[in-house]
Amino acid sequence: MKKLEQLYEGKAKKVFATEDPNVVIVDYKDDATAFNGIKKGTITGKGVINNRMSNHIMRKLEAEGIPTHLIEELSERETAVKKVTIVPLEVIVRNISAGSFAKRYGVEEGIVFDEPTIEFSYKNDDLGDPLMNAYHAAALKLATWAEINQIKDYAFRINTLLKGFLKSVGIDLVDFKLEFGKIADGQIVLADEISPDTCRLWDETTHEKLDKDRFRRDMGGVEDAYQEVMRRLMGDK
Ligand code: TMP
Ligand code: ASP
Repeated sequence: MKKLEQLYEGKAKKVFATEDPNVVIVDYKDDATAFNGIKKGTITGKGVINNRMSNHIMRKLEAEGIPTHLIEELSERETAVKKVTIVPLEVIVRNISAGSFAKRYGVEEGIVFDEPTIEFSYKNDDLGDPLMNAYHAAALKLATWAEINQIKDYAFRINTLLKGFLKSVGIDLVDFKLEFGKIADGQIVLADEISPDTCRLWDETTHEKLDKDRFRRDMGGVEDAYQEVMRRLMGDK
């Protein structure tokens, strides 16, 4: 599959056209940002890990009936995916209090919820990705109610599956962010990535952070944490 012109460059990935109008190639970078781009840095080897890990997880989700954008891993950093129109919502599922949830509601991190929560943010960097409920999303026609309900259903199913995959390798899934897209026929599919950039992952016994919070909070050991998650999930493949 040939890489044609660059269509887009995001904070962590570049997207290229291919000869097939329904297929694009994503190319994962080592660049890391936090707090809406205010904090910038590099996590060496992150692009390779996130590409491989996200594809591994999406293959497992596909096997469980979740449609994703994944077509084929092309190289360490490149993957062919279905071209989608992104639904401009960041879909966040939480199992344990942390991050902006803990801050917003004035509670400590680490409270285990009886059942998962879901929230949306409007994907709009200029506005700082404001929190948004489903009625707001429908009012702004970011998605139809049928699409919103489908997205919620997928998000909770993904949570159950992902929690299980991670628990089996000694990791607690605290929270994560998903993005969904619409393919040419209108079907909603899981898009973007699932990686330590987009999840909070804590070791189940030590509660050590194995995710991007190490970068956000200047904790050090960022590369090692990403490597560790990949090693546990994928072995030495
Ligand atoms: P939050 O606690 O900062 O709202 O983050 C919740 C989860 O979403 C956490 O696992 C990190 C992820 N996330 C992203 O992937 N991208 C973002 O831009 C933000 C704000 C959070
Ligand atoms: N994804 C970043 C974060 O987690 C936000 C950004 O890229 O600006 O904090």
